[in-house]
Amino acid sequence: FNNRINSAGLNLNIASQRAPLLTALAALADKQWQACSLLANFTAPCSDSGLTQPVLSPHNTQHSVGRRTFAQAKEATFAITQSLTALNEWRAQAVAARASILVRLADLLESHQEEFISLCTREAGKLLQDGIDEVREAVDFCRYYAQQANTLLAPHTLAGYTGESNVLYAQGRGVFICISPWNFPLAIFIGQVSAALVTGNTVIAKPAPQTCLIAHLATQLAHQAGVPKAVLQLLLGGSELGQALVSDPRIGGVCFTGSHATAQHIHRTLAHHHGAIIPLIAETGGQNAMIVDSSALPEQVVQDVLRSAFQSAGQRCSALRVLYLQSDISERILTLLSGAMAELSVGDPALLATDVGPLIDPDAHARLSDHLVRLQDKQVIARTPLPANASQGHYFAPIAMLINSIKELSQEHFGPVLHVIIYQAEQLEQVIDDINDSGYGLTLGIHSRNQTLAHHIAQRATVGNVYINRDQIGAMVGVQPFGGQGLSGTGPKAGGPHYLTRFIIEKTITNNT
Ligand code: SER
Repeated sequence: FNNRINSAGLNLNIASQRAPLLTALAALADKQWQACSLLANFTAPCSDSGLTQPVLSPHNTQHSVGRRTFAQAKEATFAITQSLTALNEWRAQAVAARASILVRLADLLESHQEEFISLCTREAGKLLQDGIDEVREAVDFCRYYAQQANTLLAPHTLAGYTGESNVLYAQGRGVFICISPWNFPLAIFIGQVSAALVTGNTVIAKPAPQTCLIAHLATQLAHQAGVPKAVLQLLLGGSELGQALVSDPRIGGVCFTGSHATAQHIHRTLAHHHGAIIPLIAETGGQNAMIVDSSALPEQVVQDVLRSAFQSAGQRCSALRVLYLQSDISERILTLLSGAMAELSVGDPALLATDVGPLIDPDAHARLSDHLVRLQDKQVIARTPLPANASQGHYFAPIAMLINSIKELSQEHFGPVLHVIIYQAEQLEQVIDDINDSGYGLTLGIHSRNQTLAHHIAQRATVGNVYINRDQIGAMVGVQPFGGQGLSGTGPKAGGPHYLTRFIIEKTITNNT
């Protein structure tokens, strides 16, 4: 475990890696997938029940990707009962045994990477590069948490009185409910589940309804890797099912990634439980800013802004939403930015040349369209043209617009919308205060060649991840532990050395021999 390095993934610039991937993707292009819940001691109907629906591609709603069957809310109770029966045996296993299963899962995810990349483009509308990155991150989570668990969860012998032994043990909290989002349908799904499993919890995973096919394949591979079926169960469904799971007083914890509003709702539900206090690990959204001062390098700024704001069609919680430009440099950067945005290619996520794919669904599209109506009096700096056939999918043209204050944005806007604010040098402290006052605290980008100033901003900002002189997305497992504070989450850093501690309870045994 200790020689772990992050997965290299596939490199699309190397023909010998690109060509076999494209061949495999062509063979999978029309495959029809099926997803259903995976419950222990119960064979869920995988299709043709009243709760079966077609899965349609966000790129083209005429394209079918397969079918998914939702569970009924009452199946939550059954799943939790099954999960409890498996708990003691799983919790009692040696940590190394559980960690080895994660390493096997990592290998299986890698050997099925073409299927996941295909599903990421077809079911989630993600670009090929995003799909490659999903697999890499999922694999890295498994191997990293396996390594961490082996050291972190080992019993600690502590000094005590002569004749007395004191040992501190770590064990799983119980039945963990893992609720994961559609924007990282493999990476965050696996990140949550692997952390909860390796620490000795049994898991019920409820992925976002938009990306059931990916979660279903990943769960099957986890079972193949050796996770018993009652230890990891998959329940497919929407908010009613999620509500049934988090309302059950028998659960031991909840790990959630998604909107702040849903996290609040889960928090309130847990607070109404009678009995034990149930912990919530929440990773929510951001109102992420980048501050660019007059010493920054404009070409590098524009490249990093494009990636931070528009990669994954801006559908990342880490994505740049508010770009602060110092007035002295703003004209140059805005000229370069509008030129670059005019060149972005919006379209089919499965094509190598595409820069920006579709939004996930019509609701996401409607929310962003409403946002633009509210900002209709603002000056548009640039809007990328859409292809002629864009209306066949959930396409939204990337846009950059000038606003006066971050206070005009009451909530996170999840998509390719970049708000730009021009500030004067003497307003910098106010800019930092305004960003902090938004209440969100996920990522912050800084572009400055003045390292003293950059570090001053980094220290003052109440955010989880600061990126200086680079883009502000794509945190690497074990390199940039990721997660926010305030409205952005309860603070755990996924892919960091302390993450697993959130999933355990500790027990001290003192023995007067
Ligand atoms: N971890 C992702 C990123 O850094 C967001 O969830 O972009």
